[in-house]
Amino acid sequence: MATTTATRWEITDVAPNIGCTIRTDKQTLLSGAKTKEIRGLMESRGVIVFPQINLTDEEQIAFTHTLGTFAHEVGESKAGMDTVYPITMDPRVNPNASYLRGAFFWHIDGTMSDMPILASIMSARALAKEGGETDFCNTYAAFEALPEAEKRELEKLKVVHAMWRSQLYHDPEPSYASMKLWQSIGRNTLPLVWKHRTGRKSLVLGATALQVEGMDMFESEALLVRLREWATRPEYSYRHTWKLGDMVIWDNTGTMHRATHYDYDSGRLMHRTKLEGEEAFA
Ligand code: OGA
Ligand code: MN
Repeated sequence: MATTTATRWEITDVAPNIGCTIRTDKQTLLSGAKTKEIRGLMESRGVIVFPQINLTDEEQIAFTHTLGTFAHEVGESKAGMDTVYPITMDPRVNPNASYLRGAFFWHIDGTMSDMPILASIMSARALAKEGGETDFCNTYAAFEALPEAEKRELEKLKVVHAMWRSQLYHDPEPSYASMKLWQSIGRNTLPLVWKHRTGRKSLVLGATALQVEGMDMFESEALLVRLREWATRPEYSYRHTWKLGDMVIWDNTGTMHRATHYDYDSGRLMHRTKLEGEEAFA
């Protein structure tokens, strides 16, 4: 008797300017046959949701390899086995949990490096009873919708980013030792508008954005706040409410993201893998 393996591949947009869901099966996803299409959707939609795809850690790692170069966490041995990284506020599960608290505020991953990661892939392993959604916004769409004259002005600007700026959001009165430790990571000056190889342009903002270079401190802060408010307007945003087994990919080069509030002891656990960056901020 002939058997046919039905493959499922249904793509639906979830919001006008960001996000789509792909309903598929593990086999199709892991085959690598859809790599090109997925990479295209990462760029055009920013966020891809695979509802309740329920990949195991091994499958998530294998899937990540089909999309690009598997990125290792800082400090993790490259010679070692590829692993998923636990995103949790529980220090017993992740000893670096306190650093992850910056994730409650809009950010791009890796602004302290000149070549930020291309994308993150995150699966829900345990949910918080309340909160713990993930918000995303499309920084391409937000830039493209600005008036032409303003775009030209913004393209001239550079912004100093510092990790300590994002840490102050959750630890506003740090010890001197903490501040010195955060500051030892240094600073990174990035263009406010990223001119990608494709010719498209996106805003580079987020919790590490400290000061527009050469601009009065008050004006700089007002501009960064105004642009964050603009980029995160509902028309450029999507909030993902997680179900167990969901997996989400975000293109870290054309989006910002944040977690919504959840209790540190809620048990929420995400398993994350990442794709190595392929294009420097420019
Ligand atoms: C991250 C992150 C948000 C979340 O893993 O980089 O910001 O909802 N996560 O856990
Ligand atoms: Mn993040």
